[in-house]
Amino acid sequence: MEAWKNYQEENKDRFLNELMDLLRIPSVSADSRFNADTERCAEEVAARLREAGADKVEICKTAGHPIVYGEKIMNATWPTVLVYGHYDVQPADPLELWHTPPFEPTIRDGKIYARGSADDKGQFYMHVKAFETMMRTNTMTCNLKFMIEGEEEVGSSNLGTFLRENKERLKSDLVLVSDTSMLSMENPSIEVGLRGLAYMEVEVTGPNRDLHSGVYGGAVANPITVLAKMIASCHDENNHITVQGFYDKVVNLSAEERAEMAKTPWDDAEYAKDLGVESLWGEKGYSSIERTGIRPTLELNGIWGGYTGEGAKTVLPSKAFAKISMRLVPNQNSDEIAALFTKHFETIAPNTVKVKVTAHHGGEPVVTPTDSKAYKAAHRAIETTFGKAPIPTRGGGSIPIVALFEEVLGLKTVLMGFGLDSDALHSPNEHYHVFNYFKGIETIPYFFKYLAE
Ligand code: BES
Ligand code: MN
Ligand code: MN
Repeated sequence: MEAWKNYQEENKDRFLNELMDLLRIPSVSADSRFNADTERCAEEVAARLREAGADKVEICKTAGHPIVYGEKIMNATWPTVLVYGHYDVQPADPLELWHTPPFEPTIRDGKIYARGSADDKGQFYMHVKAFETMMRTNTMTCNLKFMIEGEEEVGSSNLGTFLRENKERLKSDLVLVSDTSMLSMENPSIEVGLRGLAYMEVEVTGPNRDLHSGVYGGAVANPITVLAKMIASCHDENNHITVQGFYDKVVNLSAEERAEMAKTPWDDAEYAKDLGVESLWGEKGYSSIERTGIRPTLELNGIWGGYTGEGAKTVLPSKAFAKISMRLVPNQNSDEIAALFTKHFETIAPNTVKVKVTAHHGGEPVVTPTDSKAYKAAHRAIETTFGKAPIPTRGGGSIPIVALFEEVLGLKTVLMGFGLDSDALHSPNEHYHVFNYFKGIETIPYFFKYLAE
């Protein structure tokens, strides 16, 4: 038996309570009303890293929320692993849909309910506890560097600057991230790809002021109607995206690669049932796993305009808005796609309205190697603790900084996530299974052990 097993068993309760404390801090990066809490969360993470045994722990100021750094360099001949995670969380709204308050973590049915429980506090904190375990039991086999940021959920733009300015300090052999999901606990998996993102906002302006919909209605184009039509035209009858040039750079998988993907254990009926939909939807010619893994998408994230308050107001609004995001796959580029989208909307807009398109944060897609020593160590670690070999999967989500690890630091990443897609990330009642939390803490030391062998 590994020397660390007992230590983990004896400290289980404390490991869980510390996570609960972290989850009580509402570190919502997008909302400036939580700036003081976000700062306090960074201090808490730094304190926990110090306690676990990290040296040179520092709260690094940025133009936005701080980055927490710490390291343990024990032997120059050992591999050095940069562990990345994020302590910031998504806004908890809509609050009324939570069964228990988002920042009062509650355990029900073996799940920790709280904003950030799975994304990403519960996941990066497993690394802090695995590190503590190895320090206390003298089982360290690798040098570790921790970089836990506070702006992942708002695009990580200051972290990019931090990477460029700290290349020497961040020098490592690879990056290890737990911020993704597995297929299920019965079918462990490792994500080997992340999609990129281009996030746009569209503003459609019709008449120069809101109008009485009876007096003017019928003679003036309604910007909501115009916007709705433009949006509807973005997918054709096969659910292909109609933005000119959108697919030009998409890498198509070979028949062999697709056949390999088709072996992934997956049940469309169960998936639909879980989501409460009668039938699934998507690009013709592709399976659900392909639609979320290897194909790009265009999604409406929000749409508003006119009157949305209580009761009825007869108005022909001056403006209508939409937030639209596109998930990208290799070799699409977020700036290029943003430009194509802008041109497309400007082209299809009728002359009855004016259209203004702006781009929010973006990120590039990545595919991570499966033939590296680090991937093999993750594979073996999971196989050891789950008793089953993990399957490689292409993830649908985005972690924009991962592409920059390669571009700026020249480092490949291993995405050893322990979440589940059903953890309700970004949704009300986000949760993380207590089982997964401890399974992660158990698995991570094996990763370092195998990597060093
Ligand atoms: N951890 C998620 C990404 C994720 C979740 C990847 C599940 C794979 C499986 C991350 O925190 C996230 O939410 N990213 C955002 C992008 C960001 C720019 C706001 C996303 O994917 O929407
Ligand atoms: Mn995350
Ligand atoms: Mn997230």
